[in-house]
Amino acid sequence: MKYHSDLIKDKKRVEAFNKTIDNYAHGIVYDLGTGSGILAIRASNNSDKVIAIEINPRTYKLAKKNLSQYDNIEVICADATNIKLDYDADVIICEMLDTALIDEEQVPVINNVLNYTNDQTFFIPKAVINTITLTYSKVTNITYIEDGKPQYEKLSDEVTYQEVYFNKKIKEDFDELLSLTANKTARANSIKLTTYTLMGDGFVLEPTPMLNPPLIIPIDEIPVEKGQTIRIQLKYNMGGGLNTVTTTIK
Ligand SMILES: C[S@@+](CC[C@H](N)C(=O)[O-])C[C@H]1O[C@@H](n2cnc3c(N)ncnc32)[C@H](O)[C@@H]1O
Repeated sequence: MKYHSDLIKDKKRVEAFNKTIDNYAHGIVYDLGTGSGILAIRASNNSDKVIAIEINPRTYKLAKKNLSQYDNIEVICADATNIKLDYDADVIICEMLDTALIDEEQVPVINNVLNYTNDQTFFIPKAVINTITLTYSKVTNITYIEDGKPQYEKLSDEVTYQEVYFNKKIKEDFDELLSLTANKTARANSIKLTTYTLMGDGFVLEPTPMLNPPLIIPIDEIPVEKGQTIRIQLKYNMGGGLNTVTTTIK
C-alpha cells in the first residue's frame, strides 16, 4: 500500500511522533487511525496495552499482520468517530491530521474519544496551530502545495488565526472574520493556510512531505495597496472535507 509506505518513509514525521511517544506513552494507549501500525509498535515499548483502531478493512488487515507479534497490542477495525472505548485512555495517539484539520477526521474522532479521557490523558499530538497568508497564485481550485508547487507570491505576513487543542471538545464548524495587512501593492487572489503540529511541550513540527502540506485557497481577485487591511470571512467544517471551505472578502 503505497500511501502507508510513503507515510513510513517520511522521516521527519515519523521521528517527531517516535520521540514524543518515547517520552509520553504509558499505561493504556489508543492509536486512532493506526494505518500500518507504525506508531502503535513504538508505543508498545512503554505501555501496558495499546489498542490500535483502523476504519479501512484493507488497512486493518495490514495492521493486523504487522502487529500480530506484539502481545500487548490489540487491533480493532472500527470507525473512531463513534466507537465506544472499553478503557479510559492514559494516552491518545491520533495522526489523522490534515491542513487546518479540514480533510481528515481528526476533530470528530477526538470529540468522540474525549468521552473516555480524564485530566491526565496525554494527547499525541497535543494541538495544531493554523496560520493564514495573503497570496497571489495561478491556481483556480483549492490546491495543496507539494514539492514546491504551485508557486505563489506572499502579499502579507503569516498570521496565526487558530490554535486547536485536542484535550477539550472542539467546535467542528470554523467561521471567522480574519484580517490581513498587505505588505505590497499588488493583486491578491488567494490565501495560504499552513498548519504546525504541537507534539509535546514546546516541540513544533512544520509541514513534512506527508503531513499537512500548505493549502492555497482561491479568493475573489482584488487590488491591494501596501498597508491596506483586507478582511476575509473564512468558513470550513473540520472533518467535513475541502468542499466545505468558503471565503468572502468583506
Ligand atoms: C494519516 S494515516 C496515519 C496512519 C498511521 N497512524 C501513521 O502515522 O503512519 C490515517 C489513518 O486513519 C485511518 N482513518 C481515517 N478515518 C478513520 C476513522 N474515522 N476511524 C478509524 N480510522 C480512520 C485511515 O484509514 C488511515 O489509515
